[in-house]
Amino acid sequence: MQLPDGPQAPAMLQMIHWIAKPFSYMEACNQNYGDIFTVPLGKKFTPLVFVSNPQALQQILSSDTKEFDASGEYNELFEPMLGNQSVITLSGKSHRRQRQLMMPPFHGERMKAYGELIAEITEQVLHQWEVGKSFSVRSFMQQISLRVILQAVFGLYEGERYHKLEQLLSMMLDQSSTPGRVSALYFPILRQDLGAWSPWGRFLRQRQQIDQLIYDEINERRDQPDDSRTDILSMLMSARDEAGQPMTDTELRDELMTLLVAGHETTATALAWALYWIHKLPEVRQKLLEELDSLDNPDPSTLFRLPYLNAVCSETLRIYPVGMLTFPRVVRSPVELMGYQLEPDTVLVGCIYLTHQRQDLYPEPKQFKPERFLEHHFYPYEYLPFGGGARRCIGMAFAQFEMKIVLAKILSSCELALANNRPVRPVRRGLVSAPTDVQLVVTSQRVQRTPTPETISV
Ligand code: HEM
Repeated sequence: MQLPDGPQAPAMLQMIHWIAKPFSYMEACNQNYGDIFTVPLGKKFTPLVFVSNPQALQQILSSDTKEFDASGEYNELFEPMLGNQSVITLSGKSHRRQRQLMMPPFHGERMKAYGELIAEITEQVLHQWEVGKSFSVRSFMQQISLRVILQAVFGLYEGERYHKLEQLLSMMLDQSSTPGRVSALYFPILRQDLGAWSPWGRFLRQRQQIDQLIYDEINERRDQPDDSRTDILSMLMSARDEAGQPMTDTELRDELMTLLVAGHETTATALAWALYWIHKLPEVRQKLLEELDSLDNPDPSTLFRLPYLNAVCSETLRIYPVGMLTFPRVVRSPVELMGYQLEPDTVLVGCIYLTHQRQDLYPEPKQFKPERFLEHHFYPYEYLPFGGGARRCIGMAFAQFEMKIVLAKILSSCELALANNRPVRPVRRGLVSAPTDVQLVVTSQRVQRTPTPETISV
């Protein structure tokens, strides 16, 4: 079997480069080998083929389950946190079953109820900002997205369990983003429980406490059923598969954890980047404000469809996509891809970052230009911040909805400015990417013109 070419440096050095500086690693490979190359970043340094050619991506992602399978066995990096019954770690039939059970709460009508929630939570968090004081954007965006997900997913609003979960989850996710903890995910040998003070020991203890809180909540719901609840946990508990079976407690725990982890950091990061670009580029901010202010009595469904706000969100997720790669896909039967004859068991990933940096699709790719999305329609395999095919992001509509409501609410409530001129770069944060610290300062309050969110439609 002949795999596409790739760098020849020792595998361990490449792994270190990938963990420490993923963007420079991908760019160097792209410069030397183009839009398909092989790197030793798979399990135990096995080859992984990175693809950033739209036609090839279409071939891989649209024939999921035939030549290319979206098997969960290659997502074992996520297992320590999400468990082995998570939609992310499951394969084949069980993966499809879980996806089917989980999709309905993230669509259509359901989304309207979350709109109100998102606006309220944003407002609560905004109240903590003081004119003249600078603040770290990430920590506030994380507060918003974690509260949104805890309330929308668990239906947990206040009380001891809510506060404990909020605290434990932010602690665990913050610690998981350090290079040491990421290395432990790539190298199982580093997962040693040397007591509560060792990094892995601390992780295991935090996870145990979180699990206990989740199981307590599930048990309480079983003991005191309440049909009027509309949160995602309630919907998952009442969901039945084709055989009429409900989800087990372990499945429920793993899926809740999946939604908390997948839905919280990603959206907070996207919001932090969006706020950075909006305040870095005065013309972008100006156009957004003109668009928001032009609505006399801003109807929320109009707000959701505002073309420039949509373009700013799209460009934010293009330039430095939070998920740099799709989940791996594995070849099941011999197949030709871009002139290479690939044999079964070859593992490929869609390289979202390099696809979004293609000069032929996005001239001056390092420039933040929302206009691209007003002037041109991109196909799903040219622009894929949420992946595609059998594993396309379940929370795609939810995340876009949240981004727009939070940004509109913030921009309509106060005037902000970057607190300093320190350069902001994309860096690895856990298994995803994020900006280095963005600091903003409130310069003044604005007259509120935010819409009432009950009527927002998606
Ligand atoms: C800006 C925010 C987000 C980004 C950029 C993002 C990105 C992605 C990407 C790239 C994938 C992999 C797709 C593939 O391999 O084809 C994915 C999968 C997934 N995302 Fe998101 N996501 C975001 C927000 C969310 C939210 C809010 C939730 C849920 C509350 C969520 C839940 C999931 C789940 C469950 C999967 C796995 C699906 C499967 O394995 O079948 N994500 N996401």
